[in-house]
Amino acid sequence: MTVRIKKAVFPVAGLGTRFLPATKAMPKEMLTVVDKPLIQYAVEEAMAAGIEDFIFVTGRGKQSMEDHFDLSYELNATLERRGKTSELDQINAFLPPPGAIKYVRQREALGLGHAIWCARDMIGDEPFAILSPDDLVLGNVPCLKQLVQAYEQTGGSVVAVMDVPRDQTDRYGILDTPNPTDQLAEIRGLIEKPKPADAPSTLSIIGRYILDGSVFSHLERHEKGAGGEIQLTDAMAKLIGTQPFHGLRFDGERFDCGTKEGWLAANIAFSLARADRRALTEEILARYR
Ligand code: G1P
Repeated sequence: MTVRIKKAVFPVAGLGTRFLPATKAMPKEMLTVVDKPLIQYAVEEAMAAGIEDFIFVTGRGKQSMEDHFDLSYELNATLERRGKTSELDQINAFLPPPGAIKYVRQREALGLGHAIWCARDMIGDEPFAILSPDDLVLGNVPCLKQLVQAYEQTGGSVVAVMDVPRDQTDRYGILDTPNPTDQLAEIRGLIEKPKPADAPSTLSIIGRYILDGSVFSHLERHEKGAGGEIQLTDAMAKLIGTQPFHGLRFDGERFDCGTKEGWLAANIAFSLARADRRALTEEILARYR
C-alpha cells in the first residue's frame, strides 16, 4: 500500500522573463489560455488527482494569484444582484475549501530546488506532488492523475516525461534509463540541462512530479548545479537506488506556456478541444489562414 498523495507544491515565484513584456507587472501564471489563468488549470488538475493541500511557493508581485483564489466579495454581490448565476458558478466552482491553499515566499530566485525546499515545513516527510503551471497538458486523463496511478503501482517517486528534439536537451532534466521506449521508464540517472552531445537520452522531465519526502534532506544542502542554481533534478538524482524511481510517458500533449509560441499553440488547441468554442475557433483560424 502506498501513502496517499494529499499535498502539492506549485512553484510560482518565477519572473517569466521568456514572456516579457507581458509579464512585467503580471505573474506569468495569470496568463490565460482560452478563459482561465494557467494557475487555475494547475489547481484544477491537482484537485482532480485528489490533492487536498495546495502550497504556492510565491514571490513579490504575485498577489493577483492569491486574489484569484479568494472570495471576490464585490464581484459576487454584483453578480448575485444581477441574477448572473452561471458567472457566479464559474468564479466559485474552482475554489478549494477555505484554508486549503497556503502561501510561502521564496524571497530569492535561487533555482527550482530552492523553491521546493521553501515548502519543506508544510510537507514534512510524506510523498508529495509538484505542478509547474507553465507546463499545461491537454488530454483525457489529467496528467497528475496519471502520475498518481503510476505511483500507486510502483511506489517511490515518479515524474512525467516526454521525448524532446535532441537539440533541446539543454532546456530540461534528462533521464538515463535502460528502457527509454517503455511507458514506465526506470530511472538510473538524471542530468539537468545537458548539452545535446552529453544527453544520455532525449527523454525529458516536464513539470509534474511525485516525490518522496526524503528529497528534502538532499535539497537541504543547497548545492548549486546547472546555471549556478539549486536544481531539483540534482536532489532527485540522489534518490536513485534508495527507492523505485520511474519516468511516466503520460498520455496527452504538453504545451510550454512560459514561451510565447507554446502559449499561442495552447490557446488554439484548448479552444478547439472545447465543445463550446470549437466552431468559433475554426472560423477564426480560417479567417487568418
Ligand atoms: C525545470 C526543471 C527541468 C524540467 C523543466 C520542465 O526547468 O529544472 O528539469 O525539465 O522544468 O519544464 P526550467 O523550465 O525551470 O528551466
